Amino acid sequence: MKLKNKVALITGAALGFKEGGPSIGSAIALKFASEGAKIVVVDVFEDMGQKTIDQIVEKGGEGIFIKVDVSKTEEVKNAINLTQKKYNELHILVNCAASYEGDIFQNVVNTPEEDWYNIIDVNLNGYFRFAKYAIPLILNSGGGTIVNISSSAAFKVLRDFCVYPVTKAAINALTRTLAVDFAPQIRTNSICPGFVRIANSEGDRTTEEIEDWINGISKKYPLRRVCTVDEIGKIALFLASDDSSYVNGQCLIVDGGKIISETHEF
Ligand SMILES: NC(=O)c1ccc[n+]([C@@H]2O[C@H](COP(=O)([O-])OP(=O)(O)OC[C@H]3O[C@@H](n4cnc5c(N)ncnc54)[C@H](O)[C@@H]3O)[C@@H](O)[C@H]2O)c1
Repeated sequence: MKLKNKVALITGAALGFKEGGPSIGSAIALKFASEGAKIVVVDVFEDMGQKTIDQIVEKGGEGIFIKVDVSKTEEVKNAINLTQKKYNELHILVNCAASYEGDIFQNVVNTPEEDWYNIIDVNLNGYFRFAKYAIPLILNSGGGTIVNISSSAAFKVLRDFCVYPVTKAAINALTRTLAVDFAPQIRTNSICPGFVRIANSEGDRTTEEIEDWINGISKKYPLRRVCTVDEIGKIALFLASDDSSYVNGQCLIVDGGKIISETHEF
């Protein structure tokens, strides 16, 4: 039990929209619970957030769901207060919540200002808010770890998808500044995944369309497959636990070697 007697708060930890399909946050919550942590699941999506907790409890774990919009400071503060009331302590924060709402598959000229600001307010400022209000409780609990879910998009961008990589690059900078300012009591690292198969990105595709789509993406990866949410859960466990006791301020790319490989064929 690598997280026995620990309390972990994970944002964006609802299961996927499709009747509880895979998501990165819920996989991390389930992994941490299986290692003995008490889990606080935070998400704006109530039904599926509670479903993550139901699965944890079914497997003999413990946790609570708190409905929070990470772009609302009062709701973030309330989540930390409720965590303190329920468990009195907090040792691990995983920032994972991200929104893809608005007209964001655009270049800078075509991205509506409102959509740019909204994405930054959830995907970047949401990480800032949770760090700001959770850190005092983590320090009072004797210290701990922060894991920020970033993306390989922090390093390599897709055409016409501009605001998302900007938030992820900033999350890596936030990770480094937290790692310096709050060490030695708190270690902070980020995970930068490539494509991870989750329910929410499948949209309205049929099963056959999904398989074709995933097979097409898989071919572009050296490992010839995409990442699973459980594989991200294992990395999060490594960074949140004492297994990574001398790792601080790192942004770990978990993309099966995609970023270091050439895309053209000879
Ligand atoms: N899936 C991938 O390929 C991939 C790759 C790299 C990085 N990531 C990152 O992984 C993290 C998790 O994403 P995912 O892929 O599991 O997608 P997801 O859509 O399943 O998870 C995102 C979660 O954030 C929640 N959320 C959205 N807006 C919110 C708000 N305002 N307040 C609170 N919660 C909110 C959603 O309800 C959802 O449960 C994100 O930070 C994402 O950028 C994903």
